Amino acid sequence: MMSRAIRKAAVLGSGTMGSGIAALLASVGVEVALLDIPGKESVPSDPPEVRSAAALAGLERARALKAPAPLTDAELGRIRPGNFDDHSGWLADVDWVIEVVVERLDIKRALLERVVAAANPVAILSTNTSGLPIASISAGFGPQVGQHFLGTHFFNPPRVLKLLELIPGAETDPAITAFLTAYATNVLGKGVVLCNDTPNFIGNRFLTLVGAQAAAYALDHGLTVEEVDALTGPLIGRPRTGTFRLYDLIGIDVMSDIGRNLYPAIPNDPARDLIQHPAAAALFARLVQEGRLGNKSGRGFYEVRKNAAGEKEFWTLDPASFDYLPPANSAFESVRKHGAVEDTGTRLRLLLSEKDRAARFLWHHHAFYLSYASQRVPEITGSLDAIDNAQKWGFNHALGPFEIWDALGVAETIPAFEAAGYPVAAWVKTMVASGRSTFYDADGEVYKV
Ligand SMILES: NC(=O)c1ccc[n+]([C@@H]2O[C@H](COP(=O)([O-])OP(=O)(O)OC[C@H]3O[C@@H](n4cnc5c(N)ncnc54)[C@H](O)[C@@H]3O)[C@@H](O)[C@H]2O)c1
Repeated sequence: MMSRAIRKAAVLGSGTMGSGIAALLASVGVEVALLDIPGKESVPSDPPEVRSAAALAGLERARALKAPAPLTDAELGRIRPGNFDDHSGWLADVDWVIEVVVERLDIKRALLERVVAAANPVAILSTNTSGLPIASISAGFGPQVGQHFLGTHFFNPPRVLKLLELIPGAETDPAITAFLTAYATNVLGKGVVLCNDTPNFIGNRFLTLVGAQAAAYALDHGLTVEEVDALTGPLIGRPRTGTFRLYDLIGIDVMSDIGRNLYPAIPNDPARDLIQHPAAAALFARLVQEGRLGNKSGRGFYEVRKNAAGEKEFWTLDPASFDYLPPANSAFESVRKHGAVEDTGTRLRLLLSEKDRAARFLWHHHAFYLSYASQRVPEITGSLDAIDNAQKWGFNHALGPFEIWDALGVAETIPAFEAAGYPVAAWVKTMVASGRSTFYDADGEVYKV
C-alpha cells in the first residue's frame, strides 16, 4: 500500500474560495501552486504581473485575510502564483489538485482535462463545487481518474468554518476518501462530513429549503424581516444573522442561483415547491433586478442607516412597499417567558409549546425542518450525525435537527407534525416502535438507520 502525504498542492482558481483554501494549506506547511486564467490578451513573455495577474490578486486576497489570524510572511511565501497556460508543469509533482473555479460544468470539465494531462496520475484530484454533481464532472474520464477524484466542499471562509463536506464518487478509491478524511480532520482541523452525491449535498440543501420555509411562512403570515431574524437567531441556537441577514451575507443573487439550480434537480422532493413560493420568488427576483444583493451592494434585506445621534441602525426591507423600516424591537410573550432559559433544547421545547405568533412560526419552522431531515435519510446520507454536524460545523448551529428532535420528544411530536402536513419518515416510526425514544442514546451513540 502506498503511503500518502500532502507536501505540495495545486489550487486552481484564486477567487474567494481558492485564495482561502490556498491560505489554509499554506498555514499548515503545504507548498501551494495557486493558478488562475492568464491575463486577457497577454502573451507568455509578458511579466508575471500581467500574465499571472489573476493569481497574484488571489495571493493578495490571501494576504488580506484576517481571521483567524493574518498569514505570516513565511506562510504567504509557500503560495506560488501562476497561470494555467504557462505553469501546468507545476502540477507534475503535487499530491493534491483542488479545482475551485466558477460553478460551471463545462469550465470545470475542460479544466479537469488539462489537469489529467499534466498531473501525477496518483495525485488526489478534487473539485470544490457547491452543487454540481461530482459524477457529471468526472464522467467519461475513465477509471484511473475516477478512482482519484472526489468532491471537497469547503465553506466560506475556509480557514474559519469547520465543515468540510467530502463527496466520493461511485469510483473513488475508499482509501483516498479515508486518507482525506483523516488529513482534513487531523491536519487541517476540519470537521468532515461524508455526503452522497446528491444535489447541493447536505449543508446547502438544508440552507436552501429551511430558509425557503421561513421566508414563505413569513410572507404568508405577515411576519416582518426583523421578526424572522430575531426568532431564527440565538433564541433558537443559531447565529445572530438569522435567516435574512444570512442571505445578505451570502448574496441574494447567489441564493437565487442556488435555488434556481436546485429546483429542477430534485423532482421527487415535495418540499421543492417552497423554493418557488410565488411571493418569495417575486421578492428575490425584484431584489436581484434592482441590484439590492445584500452586503456586497450595500443593501438587500437590510440597509444600515445612521440615526439623529449618528449611530448605526439596521433598517429592514418591507416586502410590500420595498422601502426600509426602522428597528421596531417587537416583543413576544413566548420569548419574554422562555427566551432566557439557558439550555437550547429546553428553551426550544418551551417556546414551541406556546401559542403566540412567534411560537406558531417557530413550531411550523421546526416541524418542517425535522420532518424534512427525516425524509432526506438515507437519500443524502445514511448517518443522522452527518446532518447534525453539517448544521453545527457549517452554520454554527448549537444543535442539529436530530438533537433538537430528541429535546422536543420524538414520539410526542410525530402525530402533531403529521396532522399539520409535515410527514415523518417511516424509519423514525420504526425506531420509536422498537422501543427506542431518542436518536442519540445516553452514551451519545447515534441510531443506525
Ligand atoms: N463563495 C462561496 O461561499 C462558496 C462556498 C463553497 C463553494 N463555492 C464554490 O467554489 C467555486 C468557486 O467559487 P468562488 O466563490 O471562489 O468564486 P470566485 O468568482 O471568487 O472565483 C472564481 C474563479 O474562477 C476563475 N475562472 C473564471 N472563469 C474561468 C474560466 N473560464 N476558466 C477557468 N477559471 C475561470 C476566476 O478567475 C476565479 O479564480 C464555485 O464552484 C462555487 O460554487 C463557493
